[in-house]
Amino acid sequence: MLPYFPFGPQFNDKIGTRLLTDADPLIDIDDHYLAEVLLKRQLLTGQPGYYYQSQPGHETAQWDVVALVLQEAARRAPDAFTLQQQGDEWHWQNHRLNEACTFTVGKVDTLPQEPLDWVGRQVAEDLLVLSGEGVRLVAGQLCFGNGWCLDDKLGLPFWDIHAPINPIVESMMRAALVLMERIPLGRPVWRLNWSLKLSDQLDMTSRHTPALDRLLAERLPQLALDTIAQQLFVRIERQTLTRLQRSGAVLFGIHTYQNRLDRELAERPGAAQNLAAVLETAPPALLDYKGISPFLEPLLTGLKQEKTS
Ligand code: HEM
Repeated sequence: MLPYFPFGPQFNDKIGTRLLTDADPLIDIDDHYLAEVLLKRQLLTGQPGYYYQSQPGHETAQWDVVALVLQEAARRAPDAFTLQQQGDEWHWQNHRLNEACTFTVGKVDTLPQEPLDWVGRQVAEDLLVLSGEGVRLVAGQLCFGNGWCLDDKLGLPFWDIHAPINPIVESMMRAALVLMERIPLGRPVWRLNWSLKLSDQLDMTSRHTPALDRLLAERLPQLALDTIAQQLFVRIERQTLTRLQRSGAVLFGIHTYQNRLDRELAERPGAAQNLAAVLETAPPALLDYKGISPFLEPLLTGLKQEKTS
């Protein structure tokens, strides 16, 4: 079952951020940890410049991310990780991967990759850094992007990153920009984003968009109301936003979770009804953007049948 199912009695047009607490950690080490980290590493080895990019001048922010992520991961999962700090000399042990690394904070050549690239290979989350005027995307490791990639967005300010979506949910995006500019130190937040997909592949970065579009065109005729929930996956992104200590940049972390829709509905009373209500009240342009409109009709009919059966 998914750890989050963000469907209430109607579509919510608010940014929906909440304070990050110990119950909802920055870094989530779940049962998929090993498979997801190994997949990230495979992607990064195959196409390093596609999945990781950074602009110069943000080294302090990168080290901020190393410190935050390692300390959080070791605190959350002491059976999986050990972190020893002696001044700037740090020793990291990843027991799940049976590897260790000793490095000097602030000295890039003591790590095998750039700091953000290295630390991103220790956790399942995608990690992105935004900074400065307009809150620009200045560095990121993005392996499980949903329909976007670093080539498309690196260097852009927050508002331009969201160009396709701003006119559809304008008040939400205006509030999000204010939040990005003002998020205080020591008060990290999180929010959820959702989509429905025909595939459960984690890497849905832009290079896969043509193949995913072809898959939709092929499968569309078979998406009948009685089987559609077996063919769709709920894809949830848990997004965190944290002001970084020394650099003042913002870390945007994304943990992607997914489950087949029929399995999710079977375990959650009222879920079919809520999902149907959200789909019925969401702006049609948003459903177009999310790629849901082509199968909306059989899905809604299927969900309504589900709730009466
Ligand atoms: C409170 C903060 C944020 C809010 C409310 C927000 C909201 C949204 C929404 C509503 C979408 C449309 C996707 C969907 O609903 O399925 C979206 C897409 C997207 N968001 Fe955000 N977002 C936030 C933070 C960020 C940050 C910090 C980044 C930094 C990289 C980011 C990057 C993107 C990208 C790349 C897309 C896809 C845009 C495209 O299709 O070209 N978002 N966001």
